[in-house]
Amino acid sequence: AHVWRGIINEYLDLLPFDAADRIVTLGEGGTPLIYAEKISSEVGAEVFVKFEGMNPTGSFKDRGMTSAITQVVKDGDHTVVCASTGNTSASAAAYAAHAGLRCVVMIPQGKIAAGKMAQAIVHGADLVQVDGNFDECLDIVRELSENYPIALVNSVNPYRLQGQKTAAFEIVDQLGDAPDIHMLPVGNAGNISAYWMGFKEYADAGVSTRRPKIWGVQAAGAAPFVVGHPIKDPETVATAIRIGKPASWDLAIAARDESGGWIRAVTDEAILSAQARLAAEVGVFVEPASAAPIAGLLAAAAAGEVPRGATITCTVTGNGLKDTATALAGREVNPAVIPVDVDAAAAVLGL
Ligand code: F0G
Repeated sequence: AHVWRGIINEYLDLLPFDAADRIVTLGEGGTPLIYAEKISSEVGAEVFVKFEGMNPTGSFKDRGMTSAITQVVKDGDHTVVCASTGNTSASAAAYAAHAGLRCVVMIPQGKIAAGKMAQAIVHGADLVQVDGNFDECLDIVRELSENYPIALVNSVNPYRLQGQKTAAFEIVDQLGDAPDIHMLPVGNAGNISAYWMGFKEYADAGVSTRRPKIWGVQAAGAAPFVVGHPIKDPETVATAIRIGKPASWDLAIAARDESGGWIRAVTDEAILSAQARLAAEVGVFVEPASAAPIAGLLAAAAAGEVPRGATITCTVTGNGLKDTATALAGREVNPAVIPVDVDAAAAVLGL
């Protein structure tokens, strides 16, 4: 049987590394592409979700972190820094721990999910809360990395996008060709840029016969690409994409326009409803930000924009276990308690 060796070893000839490099890996990538039957029939297309919550720290960031941290080690640096809405910091903390590096993370105070906070803490990162939003955290760490011997591992680091492009390779490898449309959430806009690079490279290499249209989805309260300019006070229940000033602005616009795609916004209610449907109908528990593409797909279908029979892949970026509080909010969480008794079990189940 084939044993997955992490994205750098699996796609070495398409990445800026070679076999002699010391590769820092936790076995990331190789994530499942799962058919969403009910959503497919509802929108009249073949819909698959790429479940990036299956990565070692529970998000797609691990693809970019294996490559970023491998390069940091190659460069001989000893400290890494990032700003984060929670997943980048969890991933940076884990890969830095594995490589024996110091990791410093700046997070917007009170605005990251508890599971992500726990990850940074248990992996031993130096955690700093900033009385500001993600965009302001990013400004600080950019300046820190310019003035001190600290390597920046946010997605403005080009090695991040190199690693993250491998998710596009995997989708083509899993489907046998590129999909007609690829959908994903857009926050700081690194991932949409990385996917477009990956799909283009595989088409140029002749592995796929075509490139997909890229459909990006933002939260309505944090949708700078939809309004057409950065916004000052982004707000959404999907804290992972609570971002107003995306760093990879031009690359994301290029991904949208060169592919003939679009970027739209969905409400927090639509995001939470799509999150619940993914869990209850597909069996995939994602965090709120990750449900944005499904909410966007349902909105596109309602607007008559989904081509009949199209193959559509949706990246669901992070694991729902990171943010159980949001997933359970507003639900009745009060399971019946019974004695150790089969009749009582049958009775409570109405059997
Ligand atoms: N989905 C999740 C779960 C994320 O954590 C992020 C970004 C995105 C989508 C958006 O990806 O920024 O490349 O457009 N999270 C970053 C972080 C900002 O700090 O963890 P993007």
